Amino acid sequence: MFAPAARLASKRLLEIHQLFRQSPQTSRSFSTALNYHIDSPDNNPETPWEFSDVNMEKAKEIMSHYPSNYKQSAVIPLLDLAQQQHGGWLPVSAMNAVGKYHLLVCGTTPCMIRGSREIEEALLNHLGVKRNEVTKDGMFSVGEMECMGCCVNAPMITVADYSKGSEGYTYNYHEDVTPKRVVEIVEMLRRGEKPPVGTQNPQRIMSGPEGGNKTLLSEPTPPPCRDLDAC
Ligand code: FES
Repeated sequence: MFAPAARLASKRLLEIHQLFRQSPQTSRSFSTALNYHIDSPDNNPETPWEFSDVNMEKAKEIMSHYPSNYKQSAVIPLLDLAQQQHGGWLPVSAMNAVGKYHLLVCGTTPCMIRGSREIEEALLNHLGVKRNEVTKDGMFSVGEMECMGCCVNAPMITVADYSKGSEGYTYNYHEDVTPKRVVEIVEMLRRGEKPPVGTQNPQRIMSGPEGGNKTLLSEPTPPPCRDLDAC
């Protein structure tokens, strides 16, 4: 009973596979095996696109409906607005335009004790935005998140990088940051550089102690073995 459906699915997969093999210039963006975008002359990541002035005001109004810590929930109405502006379909550059670098500051207790408020303040001041706003050039937004599991290297930020679309998306941690260092990271991103991931403290190796080990400096002495011959 399922054989015809299985044959149809297999045929469809074969067609998709052949489509990619026949189009070497085609760029592919997979999130699953069946979801992809095919670049065309009028729909590729370089196609110019931005909200009109009127729609930019509407976008701000839409954002104002969401609480400050859930602004990202506006993504669907914003994409809907972009689609309406574009005559009923959504170019890939409009999808990418909903911010290039989203910087997330961990605000949970260990990072907060280690200065996450100052980290966020430095980012917001440097970029001239409030939390969850996008900079005028559409490059950066700053949000807050909960513990990302590297409290040993607190405080930390994450950079969600959408600058190369869904195909080149990355999500990197930058740890042991200072207010000065996060500004440097922003400027590296702006120049198209890749800031180093992990700890930003040159005195540490990964999550090891600053300046090297202070304890356990030699091989531990093993426990005495039982003398079985004496039993
Ligand atoms: Fe920030 Fe855990 S509290 S990573």
